[in-house]
Amino acid sequence: MQVIEVADPAAAADLAADLIDEYSPRVLGVATGATPSPLYRVLVDRHRLAADTTVCLLDEYIGLPVGHGQRYRQIIARQLATPLGLTVVAPDVDALDLSAACGSYETALADLGGVDLQILGIGRNGHIGFNEPGTSFDSVTHVVELTSTTRADNARFFDGAASVPRHAITQGIATIRRAKRIVLIAVGDAKASAVAAMIEGSISPANPASALRDHADVVLVADREALTQRTTHRHTHSGAA
Ligand code: F6R
Repeated sequence: MQVIEVADPAAAADLAADLIDEYSPRVLGVATGATPSPLYRVLVDRHRLAADTTVCLLDEYIGLPVGHGQRYRQIIARQLATPLGLTVVAPDVDALDLSAACGSYETALADLGGVDLQILGIGRNGHIGFNEPGTSFDSVTHVVELTSTTRADNARFFDGAASVPRHAITQGIATIRRAKRIVLIAVGDAKASAVAAMIEGSISPANPASALRDHADVVLVADREALTQRTTHRHTHSGAA
C-alpha cells in the first residue's frame, strides 16, 4: 500500500483527482459520504473524465424511497454523474429478491470488465463499503445490517439516527479487491485509529480495511490528522502531481 500524506482535505481531493486523471478509468467505482465529496467537485471542475466513463456505486441503502436525497444513487448523480453526463450503475435495492439483486450487481460489474479504479473512504471502525468488522474477505455483493456505530455516524445526513436505514447492499470485500486500482481517502483525526490499524495492524476480518494491504495497487491519500496514530516512517506529498 502506497501511503501519501497531504496537508488537508482539499489537498487530498486534488491529489486523488490527479490519480484518477493519470489512470483514465473507463469504469470508476465510487464511495459516498463526506470524504469523497470534495474530490467529486474537483472532478466536475476539471471535466476530464471521458464521457463514456461508467460510475459504479460501492454501496446503497435499502428502504429509502426512489428519489430520496440521501440515496447514494441520487448523491452520485448530483455530485458527479449528472454534471459530467456519466452513466451510473447501482445495485437494485428496490428489488423484491435482494439476494438476486446482489448477484445481478456482481454480473453487471463483470460485464463492464470490472472496476478500473475504486474510490474508497474508511469508517471509524475500519469498514470499507458497508463491510463491517467480521465480514469475510471472500464476501461478494451482499445485504448488510448496519452497525449502530455506522448508523450513528451517518445520522448527520438524516434527521437523527432513527431515520438512517438499517440495511444496505454493499460490494463485498472480494468485490472491492477485484478493482484494478484502489484510491482510499482518509481525512481527519476521527479516522486516525482506523487508518493505523489498516496500515499497521493485523490483517484480519476484525479490521476490514486491512484486506487492502496485499492488493497490488492501493494508494492511501491521507491528511496529517488521519495519520497521527501511525508509527512507521512518513512519505509526504509536497503538492500537485
Ligand atoms: C460510503 C461508504 C463508507 C464510507 C465511510 C466513511 O459509500 O461505503 O464506507 O466511505 O463510512 O464515511 P465518511 O466519508 O462520511 O466519513
